[in-house]
Amino acid sequence: MIEFGDFYQHIAKSPLSHWLDTLPAQISSWQRESLHGKFKQWFNAVEHLPALTPTQLDLQNGVCAALEQPLSAGQREGIENMLRNLMPWRKGPFSLYGIDIDTEWHSDWKWDRVLPHISPLVGRTILDVGCGSGYHMWRMVGAGAHLVVGIDPMQLFLCQFEAVRKLLGGDQRAHLLPLGIEQLPELAAFDTVFSMGVLYHRRSPLDHLYQLKNQLVHDGELVLETLVVEGDRHQVLVPGDRYAQMRNVYFIPSTEALKSWLEKCGFVDVKVADVCVTSTEEQRRTGWMTSESLADFLDPDDRRKTVEGYPAPLRAVLVARKP
Ligand SMILES: C[S@@+](CC[C@H](N)C(=O)[O-])C[C@H]1O[C@@H](n2cnc3c(N)ncnc32)[C@H](O)[C@@H]1O
Repeated sequence: MIEFGDFYQHIAKSPLSHWLDTLPAQISSWQRESLHGKFKQWFNAVEHLPALTPTQLDLQNGVCAALEQPLSAGQREGIENMLRNLMPWRKGPFSLYGIDIDTEWHSDWKWDRVLPHISPLVGRTILDVGCGSGYHMWRMVGAGAHLVVGIDPMQLFLCQFEAVRKLLGGDQRAHLLPLGIEQLPELAAFDTVFSMGVLYHRRSPLDHLYQLKNQLVHDGELVLETLVVEGDRHQVLVPGDRYAQMRNVYFIPSTEALKSWLEKCGFVDVKVADVCVTSTEEQRRTGWMTSESLADFLDPDDRRKTVEGYPAPLRAVLVARKP
């Protein structure tokens, strides 16, 4: 079973210590009652990976680990087989000892759009809400973060994260917890909170913004990335049954509407850092994610529209401060 004891110890003497009033009981009940049917299979793959400590580790330009003495072809094949048991790999890419996990998303491109616009992460305690496989968490470590905590309820992503961690020498600067944002108490202890690709999945987007605010220290920074539509502050798309084939998409505001939501929730210094159309080069089918991807979700006759006739995915990055 994946153990969280090291994390509990880590936060025991930190401003996050009061989380220990609720977290261990939540995690125990998750372990007893909520394990996914495939969890054992995924966890086995993690268990069977060797614990490797890289001699070269680059978390600044990517997530890349290597050894002075390269692995044999047989060792590499064994590791690749274990990692393939954790498919589909959506967020990455990872380059681990000559194995290139070419994920559905070029999450590195998103990071390149975000990093220049945010306060330096050096020494900061960070929460990444909806962190997926944890790709951006390792990049936050690479940018000098003191501690990165990711939360994501998808258990496959927890196993992918633990697999990568094992291949990065068991690095303890990042921890992923299998929780949703709604399960967090008001910690008010993070210097930076990231919510990237989550807001449009939330049925109550303003509640989501308040929940994020409640995790920040006074003067802390929110980095919000989400789908947006063109238009003025009165424009919000509420799609029907599906948006780009996704069933769980609720609110897609214009950047101006999103700015006003943040201000309504009490954030200040709200800035739109980036707006960018998602390309079929950034999100695509690969050898590590073999099912349908963005190209299949766009109108074949007009790539500016989704198959449902909505505007094709456009994403914005906003940065705001909790006063
Ligand atoms: C589109 S992905 C974004 C992943 C990553 N943050 C990125 O930007 O590439 C959305 C993630 O949010 C997670 N998620 C869904 N509901 C959530 C919740 N209630 N709390 C936290 N994360 C959630 C999903 O499991 C998924 O990994």
